[in-house]
Formats: sequence, structure tokens, C-alpha cells
Amino acid sequence: MTTRNLWRMSSAGSLERLERRTEELPPPRAGEARVRVQAIGLNFADIFACLGLYSATPRGTFVPGLECAGVVEAIGPPREDEGSSGSALSPGEPVMVLTRFGAYATALNAESRYLAPIPDGWTMAEGAAYPVQSLTAWYGLMHLGALAPGQVALLHSAAGGVGLHALAMARATGATVIGTVGQADKIPLLEARGLARGQVVVRKAKGFGAQLDVALAAVDATGFDVVLDAIAGPFFLPALARLAPEGRHVLYGAADFMPKGRHPDWLRLAWQYLRRPRLDPMKLMDTNRSVMGFNLIWLFDRADRLPAAMSAALALSPAPPHIGARFPFDEVPEALRALQSGRTMGKIVIEV
Ligand SMILES: NC(=O)c1ccc[n+]([C@@H]2O[C@H](COP(=O)([O-])OP(=O)(O)OC[C@H]3O[C@@H](n4cnc5c(N)ncnc54)[C@H](OP(=O)(O)O)[C@@H]3O)[C@@H](O)[C@H]2O)c1
Repeated sequence: MTTRNLWRMSSAGSLERLERRTEELPPPRAGEARVRVQAIGLNFADIFACLGLYSATPRGTFVPGLECAGVVEAIGPPREDEGSSGSALSPGEPVMVLTRFGAYATALNAESRYLAPIPDGWTMAEGAAYPVQSLTAWYGLMHLGALAPGQVALLHSAAGGVGLHALAMARATGATVIGTVGQADKIPLLEARGLARGQVVVRKAKGFGAQLDVALAAVDATGFDVVLDAIAGPFFLPALARLAPEGRHVLYGAADFMPKGRHPDWLRLAWQYLRRPRLDPMKLMDTNRSVMGFNLIWLFDRADRLPAAMSAALALSPAPPHIGARFPFDEVPEALRALQSGRTMGKIVIEV
């Protein structure tokens, strides 16, 4: 047994249920490694999980967190299918960790299959910031979206964690990008990443379609080949209507549903749900357009595909991720509220 500090939810439903505790951690089981955590990456999904709005969240008590980075401290016995040589990891190795919950802790046992070496020269914070958002960007934009050179991509929340990876991947592919943001103070970051002022749209719920028409004209295009959309709400249909023939609208989140407070306003959510965008599949056929959706948590069941996905993401977005803010371990609730505000850029990292 080893002692660890962690942030535990008694059950999903309110951010107020997040409680700091000290607990014992049993030795790693077969196929697991114990990692002493030095940095934790926050994801928008963490907030949805704490609020009870994420279907993959465990029932009852749970420790949030989908990724972290640290040093391998102990290795469990080999899994049956690993053979006698066991894990390729050795104690002392710096690793980034993907975990199906449990990352808000100073130590954790994680399946060795979900550990990857931190690229040379990266800090622990950069390692903790990388896996979820880069894999999400790669899976949505490149794998499902099949973005190709010369095509035009619309990237929502382009200054966010996933958004900056998607931008790097689109540029590496030779595609033209139009990025959307919620506030104008995010524009300089996108300009520094190569977008011209006319390629950034500060979204307005009313008149969003007209904003897209202006942006398309600025890049001399008539429609989007790929839309990467984790907002949905009033922005979904105007973007879908501007897909070029063969265009792919990839939906992978619903930030518009994010409650403003510490717990969900169920009445507002019900109203938003009733007013959610609907589409007619027959029209997709008529117009040669596709709508796709995905949840990365599905990849946890396909660990065999993770190494190739990670290599592909790293090849297209090889720079260490942009860390927008760092918080100490004591301030996890404050860090989550910053992310929930929608005003952050890049990744928020907890440093242990
Ligand atoms: N399907 C999956 O497997 C998967 C995996 C990872 C992430 N995601 C989704 O991808 C999106 C990006 O995730 P991330 O972790 O990289 O976060 P992020 O983009 O760094 O932060 C979320 C962003 O959402 C935007 N937003 C739009 N409406 C909002 C609202 N009502 N309240 C708060 N923010 C709002 C804000 O940026 P702007 O206002 O500038 O747009 C905000 O900064 C999230 O929606 C997340 O749920 C999905």
C-alpha cells in the first residue's frame, strides 16, 4: 500500500461534491503500473462528468480525470496475454497516462497499455496536456473528417485545447482553416498560429450563418469540407448548411449545454434539449453531406489502436501543447471553474 492524495466526487451532480482526501492505493494489479503523478490535464469532459451530464461517468463515488503525467514507480505482474517478459516499462520512466477516470490524484494504478513515453524535451505539464485533446483532434479531423490538402476546415473553439491541435494538424495537412472563438481576446493567439484576422470568427448566435459567409469569402471558398464541432446548439445548422458537397460535419461535444453554475439547471437544459437542432437524413443524401459523431472514450476499449493513433497525432501536431493556465493540486475546483467559464485558451494543467 502507498498513500496518495486525491479529489473524489461522492457522486456526480454538483461541483460542490468534489472533496480532497488522503487514501491508500493498493499495489498495481496484473498489467498495471503505479505512476507517481506530477501533472494532471483538465478536460471539458471532467466538468460534464462532475455535473452528471456525461454518460460514461461511473455510478456512485469516483475520482475524475482522464489524463496525467508522472514517473513509473512500480510495475504489476504481467497480464496473461503479455507473456513472461511483461510490460516494456521500467521504474523511473516519465510517462503520459490516459485513464478512464481517476487522474485527479498524486498517484494511481493505470493499465500499462495506456501509458506512453513523454516526448524528449517536454515538461510533465506538457505530457499531461497532450493525450486526450490531441487524440480527439486527430480522430475527429483526420480519421473521421479525412481532411485533405487544399480543403477548407471550420474549427470551432479553435483557441481551446482540442482546437489548437486541430489547427496544427490542418495546417500540417495543407488545408485552409476558419476558426471560431467565443471572445475577441482569443484572436491574437490564433494569429500567432498563422490565421489571418479574416479567418477568425467571433461567434454570434444570431447571424452566425452570415459571419460564416464573410469568412468563406475571405478565403475564396464557397463551402467547408470538414466542420469540427463540439458546441452544437445554434451554431450547428448554419455550419451544416455551408458544407460543400462531400463535406463532413463531425460533432464531438455540446459545449452549448454547459451549465454556468456549480450544478445543472435542469429546466434550462430541458429547454435547450427540446430546441436542439434536428436534421433530415434524406437531405444529407440529396446534398452529398455527412454528419458524424464520436466519443473518444470508445478508444479505451480498443487499446490495440492507441499506439498508431498517438503516433499519427504526434506526427501532425508535434509541438508541445500550449498551456493556458497552471493551478496547484489544492486548487482543482478553481481550475475547473476557470475551464467552465469558456474564457480559457489552450490547456489547463494541475501541477502536483
Ligand atoms: N467526443 C470526445 O471524445 C471529446 C473528447 C475531448 C473533448 N471533447 C469536447 O471538445 C470540446 C473542447 O474540449 P477541450 O477540453 O479542448 O476544451 P476547450 O476547447 O479548451 O474549452 C472549451 C471551450 O468551449 C467553448 N464554449 C462554447 N460554448 C461554451 C459554453 N456555453 N460554456 C463554456 N465554454 C463554451 C469555449 O471556447 P470558445 O467560446 O472560444 O469557442 C471554451 O473555451 C469540449 O466541448 C469537449 O467536451 C470531446
